[in-house]
Amino acid sequence: MRGKLVTGNWKMNGNLASNQALLQAMIPAISPISGAKSAVCVPFPYLAQVEQLLRGSGIAWGAQDLCQFDNGPYTGAVSATMLADFGCRYVIVGHSERRSVFGESDGVVALKFSQALRVGLIPILCVGETLDEREAGVTEAVIARQLDAVIGQSGVAALADAVIAYEPVWAIGTGKTATPGEAQAVHAFIRRRVAAGDEAIAAGLQILYGGSVRAGNAAQLFGAPDIDGGLIGGASLNADEFIAICRCAQPAA
Ligand code: 13P
Repeated sequence: MRGKLVTGNWKMNGNLASNQALLQAMIPAISPISGAKSAVCVPFPYLAQVEQLLRGSGIAWGAQDLCQFDNGPYTGAVSATMLADFGCRYVIVGHSERRSVFGESDGVVALKFSQALRVGLIPILCVGETLDEREAGVTEAVIARQLDAVIGQSGVAALADAVIAYEPVWAIGTGKTATPGEAQAVHAFIRRRVAAGDEAIAAGLQILYGGSVRAGNAAQLFGAPDIDGGLIGGASLNADEFIAICRCAQPAA
């Protein structure tokens, strides 16, 4: 896989009118960008709208979560099968907000990851440490635990069809970005950890950085050797910012 990918995570934001305005501004600017991929991960109710607006454009779409089970008696849940039905290419799995606010365990995240793969969706597996964990010097241990849960469930080969996003929890929505050096160190650790299981898969694995990425810091972050693009929260709700971030992912001419 490799090459760069920029994915917007709209989180629980948007409405029919604002989504349409945002995508209509983005499509003509982002579709011609070559050498880098882009996508938006949107709230479930807007998947039909987004599919209709983005079909045939250069921008892929996806969801922000899915159920760990397939269709059945799970009131309020949304299955991988349903996401595939709406043309999703990606689904975010194990975002820190799912883990901390909704209590998702590593085990549940691993099941969700395998559900995505089952229907051919590309899971974007989020990993990252809290500020307390970073200050306690256990960043690598936390990320290893989060990764190993998924590898234990699906096998390292499954990462050939997946994307990983390193999102330090302390950098999400705080305006406090990891420096390119701090992020690169963790990205390299993730790649080494995967390489211990399969070197070729590690070499091809896209590892995105997420946490207060803006147009003003994206180029520096994306320039680090193991940073293969970004998972963008707040800035993905602003067309000009998101377009500028996508341009930063283009390979130099
Ligand atoms: P912000 O870009 O708003 O910090 O959010 C990052 C994020 O959580 C993306 O998934």
